[in-house]
Amino acid sequence: MLKFTSSASALILAGLISVQPLAARAEHLNLSQDWRVHKGDAAGADKVAYDDQGWTQVVAPHDASIMDGPDGTPFDAQATAGQDSGYLSGGVVWYRKHLNLTDAQVAQVARLNFEAVYMDAEIWVNGQSVATHRYGYSAFSVDLTGKLRAGDNLIAVRVNHEDPSSRWYAGTGLIRPVSLDLLSCTHIEPDSVAITTPMATPQSGEVVVATTLANCAARPQSAELVSEVVAADGTVVAHSAVPLSAPAKAGVPLTQKLTVPSPALWSTDAPNLYTLVQRVRIDGAVVDERRTRFGIRTISVDAVNGLRINGQPVRLRGGNIHHDNYMLGAAGFHDADARKVALMKAAGYNAIRNAHNPASQATLEAADELGMLVIDEAFDAWNKDKRSKDYARFFANNWQQDITSLVSSGRNHPSVLFWSIGNEIPESGTPLGVKAGHKLAALVRKLDPSRPVTQGVNAEPPLDDAQFATGDVAGYNYHVQLFAGDHDKFPDRVMFTSESTSKDAFQYWRPVETMPWVIGDFVWTAVDYIGETGIGWMGYSQDWQKLGPYPWHLAYCGEIDAIGRKRPAAYYREVLWKTGIDPISAFVRQPAGTEDLPDRQLFPITPPHLDWSLDDVHPSWTWPGQEGKALEVDVYSEFPQVELFLNGKSLGRKAVGVDSEYKAIYSVPYASGRLVAVGYRDGHEAGRWELRTAGDPAVAQLSSDKTQIRGNGEDLAYVTLKLADENGTPIYARSGDRKVTVHVSGAAVLAGIGNGNPMDASSFQSGVRTTFHGQLAFVLRSLNRAGEIHVAVEAEGLPTQYLTLNVVSENSVAP
Ligand code: GAL
Repeated sequence: MLKFTSSASALILAGLISVQPLAARAEHLNLSQDWRVHKGDAAGADKVAYDDQGWTQVVAPHDASIMDGPDGTPFDAQATAGQDSGYLSGGVVWYRKHLNLTDAQVAQVARLNFEAVYMDAEIWVNGQSVATHRYGYSAFSVDLTGKLRAGDNLIAVRVNHEDPSSRWYAGTGLIRPVSLDLLSCTHIEPDSVAITTPMATPQSGEVVVATTLANCAARPQSAELVSEVVAADGTVVAHSAVPLSAPAKAGVPLTQKLTVPSPALWSTDAPNLYTLVQRVRIDGAVVDERRTRFGIRTISVDAVNGLRINGQPVRLRGGNIHHDNYMLGAAGFHDADARKVALMKAAGYNAIRNAHNPASQATLEAADELGMLVIDEAFDAWNKDKRSKDYARFFANNWQQDITSLVSSGRNHPSVLFWSIGNEIPESGTPLGVKAGHKLAALVRKLDPSRPVTQGVNAEPPLDDAQFATGDVAGYNYHVQLFAGDHDKFPDRVMFTSESTSKDAFQYWRPVETMPWVIGDFVWTAVDYIGETGIGWMGYSQDWQKLGPYPWHLAYCGEIDAIGRKRPAAYYREVLWKTGIDPISAFVRQPAGTEDLPDRQLFPITPPHLDWSLDDVHPSWTWPGQEGKALEVDVYSEFPQVELFLNGKSLGRKAVGVDSEYKAIYSVPYASGRLVAVGYRDGHEAGRWELRTAGDPAVAQLSSDKTQIRGNGEDLAYVTLKLADENGTPIYARSGDRKVTVHVSGAAVLAGIGNGNPMDASSFQSGVRTTFHGQLAFVLRSLNRAGEIHVAVEAEGLPTQYLTLNVVSENSVAP
């Protein structure tokens, strides 16, 4: 299948058939479909003749660890990686795929591209071992030129995910897209394109393009490289054509400088994009064409002005995310990764720290489009391990190729702000760590001199000062108290919080507002994730290794939960950041004794301690049994004055602002009805927020994030189910939760179902789940054809709901 994409690494069909023998057209084959998978080792599965008919047919991206086991769930209370992985296991997994090619195709230069395989993979093509690749998150290409044959070809992949390999849930297998590039003998070296924009003003944008022209032939080849900058409306705004000669069986590097007059600059508020279209011509015929999307913008940082994009100050309103997609496991479908970025953008974040591994192309593409900045990171361990089977086993041999992959696959994305070379590296601050830091930073700067290098350090002064000196910007994990003193000692150091606790959001944000050298704060975490089970509920006790026992499988510290709903901490952050998104909101503290998850105080912790839990407040005014008892109501407000009303009766006005940390706290004797928080500015009502007591569940409301998807076997639609009473009031109390069964027919399959409940370790694929606080979500994945998708949803005791979505042919544009 031929797929047009505008991603930085993608090729398009040149669309021109040349008369030159070397000028066959370039193709980008998407290899997502028709894989077969087998969990466990399979002797001889690398051989073409091996019979894989009994294996399960799947599409890539794919995560074998999230597939149901014999007991009907993917979970195992005895999993070796325990709470780290959310009681999910790795193991050996095999994939096989057949590929039919023509004579003309196999005569091409061939590159098999894996965007990430978790982990320790070996690849065979037609029975021949062609590559091994250890790191589970870096993109790599295998040169198959001359190794493919006309007719049937067999690609076999064995992954060896030994547990414990990670401190969080990693998934297993072909977790990101797979593709095959077929290129003419004279072609643009795929990873060579590097675009920088050293000047970006409203008057002029300078676009510097480095490209290597490669030649596979045994004689030199003359060609012309034409590079054009194309604006969003299709207009060519800059053009450069350079004649050059590639030596025999080698490449020739070239730098072109193009100037874009009056460019539409890229920023988080206006994420304007351009496409660099490059063509290789031989005697006038186009033999290769490559499209790379980019943005025109500059980045600068210093301790006086902070961070500036295009000369304009930017404060990083950041959140950490891990790569898993909850009910899809670690399968990095484009729409799933993009949805996380969109959820964060909609909640007021402007920056992501991709913890602790290179971001997927889908994440970066969404960030480019939506205007999100990304700290693109490699490595949670270097020489010293954190878990016995983690990447430290491979670091010494592989760090160069993995850093090269990080930078070359991310550098043309305008969203990428900094390169991070590591997180809480065990040898940080020691001679070993400092030496490695310098080496990694040097390679990053060589590959991309245009962006600062950083590292997330759980700082232990003065040990880590030498570590910070290896980078350009200092990422502090959980050490807000050091910013003032460190500035006195290192006045030029640019600092930011690379990880912070949500409950201390105010304390971490204040320095960003008051200290110019502190450029942002990234909370741990913006979106919930699998693994590090229960840290968001219980925190680490003295005996934290025992926390989050099965069936806990989510960290539960995400300000946005695993199905995508904003938790109260996200609303507070919107206010703190003065985003205007929900300028006033109100939540109710869980009355003592009514907790429906294990009591967070069950494991007493001696302060001071780190604790990733969120405030135990809820968007609900349904507290049966609490009548007449005083409940704490927390109002978050951007407005300077708030007033709370219960059933129309004022409970008084309060001032809010920096001194009150943008909160007003009320004690309200509970009575069912309507609780309304009103915000005032200049004495006038400027906004309000309402919580209503809900009756019994009466309806399961369905909403889909899309009405139409493409029939490419990969597009996803997310459907959210919300229970409501007969007046439409949302159901939040756990007593109102209902068991739900989802039936899907037509042009899609159910790819996953989840509810965000950190303790519900049931199947993600069965189509059966119980709502959590009145909600759940499920994912539909298109099949390889157009048609209608029919969804029927039964929620216990409620009328069945129906939903129809459209699947259009692959080349149609999804709305
Ligand atoms: C940090 C670490 C993160 C995560 C977090 C919460 O120290 O860098 O990866 O583990 O703690 O547990």
